[in-house]
Amino acid sequence: MNKNKIDFAKKLLSSGELVIFPTETVYGLGADATNDKAVKSIYKLKNRPINNPLICHFSNIAQIEKYFIISEFEKKLASKFWPGPLTIILKKRKESKISNFLSNNSIYVGCRIPNNFLAKKLISSLELPIAAPSANLSQRTSVTNIKDLDPILKKKIFIIKDKQSKYGLESTVIKINKKNNIEILRHGSITLEQLSKIAKVKKIKVIKKSKISPGNLSKHYSTVKPIRINIKKVLNDEGLLNFGKNKLISNIINLNLSEKKNLNEAAENFYHFLHKLDKSNCKRIAVAKIPNIGLGKTINDRLKRAIK
Ligand code: TXA
Ligand code: MG
Repeated sequence: MNKNKIDFAKKLLSSGELVIFPTETVYGLGADATNDKAVKSIYKLKNRPINNPLICHFSNIAQIEKYFIISEFEKKLASKFWPGPLTIILKKRKESKISNFLSNNSIYVGCRIPNNFLAKKLISSLELPIAAPSANLSQRTSVTNIKDLDPILKKKIFIIKDKQSKYGLESTVIKINKKNNIEILRHGSITLEQLSKIAKVKKIKVIKKSKISPGNLSKHYSTVKPIRINIKKVLNDEGLLNFGKNKLISNIINLNLSEKKNLNEAAENFYHFLHKLDKSNCKRIAVAKIPNIGLGKTINDRLKRAIK
């Protein structure tokens, strides 16, 4: 069954069409990364500004080395975190066939090897890298459960279905600078604490307003309904996104990211619950305080962008 789906998706990608496929972080909207026209069509469909680069997905490091230069330190990070939710910005080789539209003509491209069985099968059967942003319209919340896909995307694009994404938050985007420091361009599923097991904390820098990572600048990851965060009281017209056990309660809808205060569980539930609240009959969304450590940092980062 899955084999037929992978074969069909491969055919679509080879002929320049798009495919929605699962990853361990969020669903991706994929195209053959070497096909200019296919890559451009991602921007058009998502209504995404052309200066916001896409991530390139590979099935193994040898495939990445065909297109990119990868230093010893980057290889060390790769061997620790790939396959998995870490995106490393790498320099293209001169002869690289990766579309220039993918990175707005920059030679620096975000690369990762996803850790999802179907994603890996798809990329290895295509034998080409897949360019893919999250499978949502520009500025909207990412999708971890196919029930939450935008009707426009659902109608137009072939979908490889899977269970709800295991991690639930996008990959962490990093760049290694000339001094071998790790620059975090976007918080994600790999935490600063995990990175600090590979590099000294003083060699890890969080880049606040990254010009080269526009996903980190503008309003992003937004629900349709307005959001309030770190709330002490839920208002009458608000639905509640809670965390831990407390006295907060909504008259309309109550969802708890993790009663046990487990941040992995909270991350897994995060986007699906935001979509549920958006679809419910509350007017606004109230979010309880979430600790600003580990994955909590990523959740808070997304929430802050959602309220702008
Ligand atoms: O987990 C993920 O990363 C998912 C799955 C599908 O892999 N993809 C994803 O893609 O979240 P997207 O396009 O929604 O977000 C990519 C982020 C954006 O913030 C973008 O600005 C940044 O990565 N990015 C991509 N390429 C970059 C580059 N060459 N330089 C700097 N930032 C880059
Ligand atoms: Mg996105």
